[in-house]
Amino acid sequence: MGGILVYVFLLLLTLVSYIVRRREKKDAHQTFKLPPGSMGWPYIGETLQLYSQDPKVFFASKQKRYGEIFKTHILGCPCVMLASPEAARFVLVTQAHLFKPTYPKSKEHLIGPSALFFHQGDYHMRLRKLVQGSLSLDVIRNLTPHISGAASSTLDSWDGGRVINTFQELKKFSFEVGILAIFGHLESHYREELKKNYSIVDKGYNSFPTNIPGFPYRKAMEARKRLSKILGQIICERKEKRLLERDLLGCLLNSKDEKGEVLTDDQIADNIIGVLFAAQDTTASAMTWIVKYLHDHPKLLEDVKAEQEAILKLNDEENRPLSWSQTRSMTHSQKVVLESLRMASIISFTFREAVADVEYKGYLIPKGWKVMPLFRNIHHSPEYFSDPQKFDPSRFEVAPKPNTFMPFGSGVHACPGNELAKLEMLIMIHHLVTKFRWEVVGSQTGTQYGPFPVPMHGLPARFWKESSTARVAALSN
Ligand code: HEM
Repeated sequence: MGGILVYVFLLLLTLVSYIVRRREKKDAHQTFKLPPGSMGWPYIGETLQLYSQDPKVFFASKQKRYGEIFKTHILGCPCVMLASPEAARFVLVTQAHLFKPTYPKSKEHLIGPSALFFHQGDYHMRLRKLVQGSLSLDVIRNLTPHISGAASSTLDSWDGGRVINTFQELKKFSFEVGILAIFGHLESHYREELKKNYSIVDKGYNSFPTNIPGFPYRKAMEARKRLSKILGQIICERKEKRLLERDLLGCLLNSKDEKGEVLTDDQIADNIIGVLFAAQDTTASAMTWIVKYLHDHPKLLEDVKAEQEAILKLNDEENRPLSWSQTRSMTHSQKVVLESLRMASIISFTFREAVADVEYKGYLIPKGWKVMPLFRNIHHSPEYFSDPQKFDPSRFEVAPKPNTFMPFGSGVHACPGNELAKLEMLIMIHHLVTKFRWEVVGSQTGTQYGPFPVPMHGLPARFWKESSTARVAALSN
């Protein structure tokens, strides 16, 4: 009898809490209205409007019409777009637990489902600490001579004035740096195998996700399987050597959770591919914009050159290589890097998904809707950056207002590779401006999205190494 009563009581309790939750949900839906905006056509929504024109124009016209928060419907999903620093902070920092990262399943399969940026909560925090540790200032400072060597040999291969695709060439460099940060020294046969297969994965990433043999996505999935095998061999060799390296692989291999559990080889492989993916196109795209902006602003190039040549002169006299501390004192070049990141806004926006009904400034963001903080709109708003379309590194003499400058995102998923990316860019600038002159070929305007914004056609350009006699003469003048 007692058992039946307990059972009835529990049943009633469940029923009441269900009714209360439904009521709260209904109340939220009745009290708060959806943000303004248009949802376009059934199912396709406004996808065509977004992808048939420059996305900058799509977002800017929406913002002009509806303000800092508006709804739309893209790629089969209802979305709320947010174009203010305050709203971005709400989603990415203060209420981050209410918004989970969201990526198409096809991309998750290709990179590897255990990569940290697909996750939220404890697993994410554990992996994030490891990745952050391997990319901390203490660790990356030791990479300076290696990155410098890679920059120098990349640039040397451009010498002679033939037309090169600057973006594609810089991708080779950012891949090398990614490999350095992940493995430290890696035997060349492994590096070549990783490079070959990763480039097939890269080609399939933005292709139509079909398993039909011969299609880029299928080829990419096959290459991804081969990558797992190669990484398995590298992991096995490292385990045998029992080294305590501080590179990413070392950090992943040596990690144990509170129960003493180590990461599986698949979890390690997914995170290695994830970091390579996060590091390569982003940094190459930013560096391509730097090459273009320096080319388009001769006066600025002169200032940067003067700064870098002074460093080179000192190093030549004392017969020493570029040092970490010198990269920390390149004040002109640092501002050029920051302004390039603002202007280009490589990650123009990011995606999250509301895990519950959320209220923001009287508007309802329904559970399951996508939420997109629009970094580019914030970076290009005259409210936060005066004359925003002008390339003006001097604006960074004063720190931007809080939450208005987020080239590396913000909050729990903010970029752990930001210092490495900046170091890489400064080292590239150093070698480029002190040893080369260059000319952009063909049309010098326009942006291509693949999906990151890159100057049209990857910035075709010709590069010439200035002879060291010309350099010495210039330095002594
Ligand atoms: C100019 C170059 C780069 C830019 C503009 C950039 C930008 C970003 C942004 C905006 C995010 C946050 C995305 C979000 O919140 O959804 C992010 C995350 C991430 N970035 Fe970068 N990144 C760059 C280079 C790098 C490099 C060099 C590495 C590693 C070597 C790296 C590794 C990562 C990782 C692992 C995440 C995911 C973090 C997490 O989910 O906790 N990035 N990056």
